[in-house]
Amino acid sequence: MIVKDSDFMNEYIRVWDDGASQDAPFITLGVEAILKEYYGDLLDAPPPFPVDKGTDVLDLGCGWGRVLKPVLDREANAVGLDISEKMLDLTRRHLEKNGHRSNVLRGDGTRLPFADNSFDMVYSLLVLQHLSKENGREVFREVQRVLRPGGVAHIRVPGRFAPENMLFSFLQFVSIHIFRLKDPIRMRFYRIGEIKKICRELFGECEITAHEFRPPWNLHTRWTWHYILVPKFLHRPLRKISDKIEKLANNGAGFLKHFGVVLMVHVKK
Ligand SMILES: C[S@@+](CC[C@H](N)C(=O)[O-])C[C@H]1O[C@@H](n2cnc3c(N)ncnc32)[C@H](O)[C@@H]1O
Repeated sequence: MIVKDSDFMNEYIRVWDDGASQDAPFITLGVEAILKEYYGDLLDAPPPFPVDKGTDVLDLGCGWGRVLKPVLDREANAVGLDISEKMLDLTRRHLEKNGHRSNVLRGDGTRLPFADNSFDMVYSLLVLQHLSKENGREVFREVQRVLRPGGVAHIRVPGRFAPENMLFSFLQFVSIHIFRLKDPIRMRFYRIGEIKKICRELFGECEITAHEFRPPWNLHTRWTWHYILVPKFLHRPLRKISDKIEKLANNGAGFLKHFGVVLMVHVKK
C-alpha cells in the first residue's frame, strides 16, 4: 500500500486484527450484519455474482470468509487474500468447519502476490472503501494484471451521492477534522464517473450496477440508532421500496444509480 509512514500501516492492520478478535461480522459488514428484517441473513447469503464450477477465483480482502465459503460451495478453486492475519485465522476456521480446505494467504491488494493472468474471476467486497483513492486505483490495476484475458471482476464500493453516504461522510469529516479522531480505515466514496474513468483505461468492458436505496439510517455504529430513526415495523416495506428503485436504476432509469448506497463494478479484461 502507498502510505505516509510505517506507523500508519501498523495501525491500519491493527484495526482489522482487533476487529477480527472483537466483532468480525460488524467490522466487515457493518449494520448489514445486524438488521436481518431489512437485509436478510447476509452472514449466510449466496455470492452476489455468478460463480462457475472449476474456475480460479480470488477473494481480495476476504475478511472472515463470509463470501469465500459459498464460492467454495459452488466448487470454484478459490483463494482468499487478506491483510489481517487474524481475519485469515477466522477464515480458516470458518472454511474448515464447513468442510472446505482453506486456501488463504496474507497479502496486500495493492501488491498482489500472484503472477499475471492467474484468475478467471476476482472479487473484492467492502475493501476499496477503506483505502485511499490512490491505493484504490492500485487495486484496480492489480486486478487487471492477475485476471486472464476474458476474466471478470466484481468490486463493491460505496456511492458518493447516496443520502446515507453523504450524511456519513459529513459525520466522518467532523470527527476527523473537528474532533481530530484518528480513523485509519475511514471510508472513501466513489462517483460513477470516476469509476468509469479508471475502468476505461484498464478493461475491455465495464458495467456498474447500483444497490440499496435505503434511508440514511446507517451511522456505522452497532448501538442501534437505526431502530430509533426507523422503527422495526417499517424495515420490510422500506426494503420493498429499495428493491423497486434498484430495479428501475439498473433497467433504464440510469440516473438513479448515482443515489445507490452500494455500487457494484463489473469488469471484463
Ligand atoms: C470490510 S471488510 C470486508 C470483508 C469481506 N470482503 C466481506 O465482504 O465480508 C474489509 C477486509 O479487507 C481487508 N483489507 C483491508 N485492506 C486490505 C488490503 N490492502 N489488502 C488486502 N486486504 C485488505 C481487511 O483486513 C478486512 O478483512
